[in-house]
Amino acid sequence: MAHEVRGVVALAKGQPVSLETIIVPDPGPGEALVKIQACGVCHTDLHYREGGISDDFPFFLGHEAAGVVEAVGEGVTDVAPGDFVVLNWRAVCGACRACLRGRPQYCFATHNAKQKMTLADGTVLSPALGIGAFAEKTLVAAGQCTKVDPAASPAAVGLLGCGVMAGLGAAMNTGGVTRGDSVAVIGCGGVGDAAIAGADLAGATTIIAVDVDDRKLEWARRFGATHTVNSRETDPVEAIRDLTGGFGADVVIDAVGRPETYRQAFYARDLAGTVVLVGVPTPEMTLELPLLDVFGRGGALKSSWYGDCLPSRDFPMLVSLYRQGRLDLDAFVSETIALDEVEAAFDKMHRGEVLRSVVVL
Ligand SMILES: NC(=O)c1ccc[n+]([C@@H]2O[C@H](COP(=O)([O-])OP(=O)(O)OC[C@H]3O[C@@H](n4cnc5c(N)ncnc54)[C@H](O)[C@@H]3O)[C@@H](O)[C@H]2O)c1
Ligand SMILES: [Zn+2]
Ligand SMILES: [Zn+2]
Repeated sequence: MAHEVRGVVALAKGQPVSLETIIVPDPGPGEALVKIQACGVCHTDLHYREGGISDDFPFFLGHEAAGVVEAVGEGVTDVAPGDFVVLNWRAVCGACRACLRGRPQYCFATHNAKQKMTLADGTVLSPALGIGAFAEKTLVAAGQCTKVDPAASPAAVGLLGCGVMAGLGAAMNTGGVTRGDSVAVIGCGGVGDAAIAGADLAGATTIIAVDVDDRKLEWARRFGATHTVNSRETDPVEAIRDLTGGFGADVVIDAVGRPETYRQAFYARDLAGTVVLVGVPTPEMTLELPLLDVFGRGGALKSSWYGDCLPSRDFPMLVSLYRQGRLDLDAFVSETIALDEVEAAFDKMHRGEVLRSVVVL
């Protein structure tokens, strides 16, 4: 039996998203049908709509979600109907070369539901990040469901499914931030603020927030920023060096993902420090740096895919910190909206009015 639901679809490049009827199959072997309770609006959804990720339109958007498993297919043992889950886009395979080397957080063969969700006319949809959760129900691989404490708020913990995990992990996993570090974060949207929160949790003592928008800088303080720099008014490289004894930060996280912000991150970092790129560039962007500086400044230039997270390890741990009051996930939820308000949420994101708009169903 298939399920007919309403979902948010990007039909064509650059066009406003629309609410369409989506046909969701019953779960087959290894799959789970999930009733969505909440799904955050991430900048990556907008990248999809603008054709910045691929040309496989139409896209079924939404991927930062929490909900309840409604049904599972044959052979599924890790989750059962009724389980409260956060959806992830890293269902590890256990068999690829990364998994076999004990590094499942890099799994190169993550999987999604095998069956396709379609529009009413049979057009096959491309679910964003293999999820598609701006809808009443979606079909995923069972491994994309991570069970967490059901007492937690779906709107808050659903954000761990993408942007907030990406930011927290950029600091805690990829950047390896530790006690006493100085950290700078460029771009204080949902991802950047999560990186700030992650740096704070990990014990960083100086946390410098950089953005072009004063409102974002004010919010960044709530997550643990000790200093703020408006890079429209002040050269961020000089400012970060000034705030770190003239040397630069131990870890600089680029949560924008543009050549100019990467260059700032590169030069705002102390010798032997670490740059973490977590913002996602678009295909036409290129970067030029003096190779001698790449050598001479030493350290590590890293990219963070999904915060190098392992959902089964990180989601329950972070939900636990949230429940203990040590990680303020609620502060990321700027507003809750309905399914037909996603396009308006993109505009608010563009105008810098929100950290996360969260669709609540
Ligand atoms: N690596 C991953 O796994 C992963 C996961 C989720 C999202 N992302 C990416 O992270 C990035 C941020 O996502 P978000 O949801 O926080 O977006 P957002 O739009 O909410 O935030 C971006 C922030 O950057 C600021 N900004 C823009 N240009 C700037 C500049 N030149 N200098 C300083 N600040 C600038 C904006 O004012 C805004 O506060 C996006 O590129 C998104 O696709 C990556
Ligand atoms: Zn693998
Ligand atoms: Zn996302």
